[in-house]
Amino acid sequence: MKISDKIILALDVADSDSAVEIVEKFKDHIEIFKIGSELFTSAGPDVVKKIISMGKKVFLDLKFHDIPNTAAKSVKAAAEMGVFMLNVHASGGAEMMRKASHAVSELSSKKNIERPKLLAVTVLTSIDEAALQKDAGVGRSIEEQVMHLAKLAMNSGLDGVVASPRETEMIRSQFGRDFLIVTPGIRPSWANADDQKRTMTPAEAIKKGSDYIVIGRAVLSQPDPIGALKRIIENES
Ligand code: C5P
Repeated sequence: MKISDKIILALDVADSDSAVEIVEKFKDHIEIFKIGSELFTSAGPDVVKKIISMGKKVFLDLKFHDIPNTAAKSVKAAAEMGVFMLNVHASGGAEMMRKASHAVSELSSKKNIERPKLLAVTVLTSIDEAALQKDAGVGRSIEEQVMHLAKLAMNSGLDGVVASPRETEMIRSQFGRDFLIVTPGIRPSWANADDQKRTMTPAEAIKKGSDYIVIGRAVLSQPDPIGALKRIIENES
């Protein structure tokens, strides 16, 4: 797979027109676009359908976390739109993930479509150990918590995890080649860290075993976004 096929561009914008403009601009370079809660809350399912109708794949990053029944129904509604990838918070628990996974399988076999990839968010890349322990009240280290949640996700039938690039190697070695690893928190050496605390460059993240890397501000906040993307694709820096 070429590096450009491994990049998921985050459409962290507030309205449909801005999102579609970005997709138009990047469509020759990027196959998968990520719609998160800001864009989905303001533009709704229409923007998801619009981007799919442009021939692109959508990662719907709504990080569902609710009681099992509600999470499963939400995941089903997302899968009905034809998304390529979607996610839940692993901290929602094994039963929530099992029901969500079952809902996605059931829907895809009923509609005879490819099963969307259902991922679990382990620990957000903006969280460091102090926040994990003080704010979330978790006694484990970040690594222990990530491995605990990744195991729970795998045992609950999920396809993979969203995790920091710093954790990729240990997840890959423990859970094998087929367990998908999607990593945000990607920063080329020339970009700002912003609010991300556990970052890595695109090349390093791919070398460590990420299947997909999520890139937002390191491309979209640059004065020349296409130039920034090409720099990543060509130099993998
Ligand atoms: O701009 P930046 O590259 O930091 O954007 C990262 C994107 O990945 C954002 O849309 C953010 O919500 C998302 N994300 C993340 N950490 C996670 C899961 C998703 O940063 N654990």
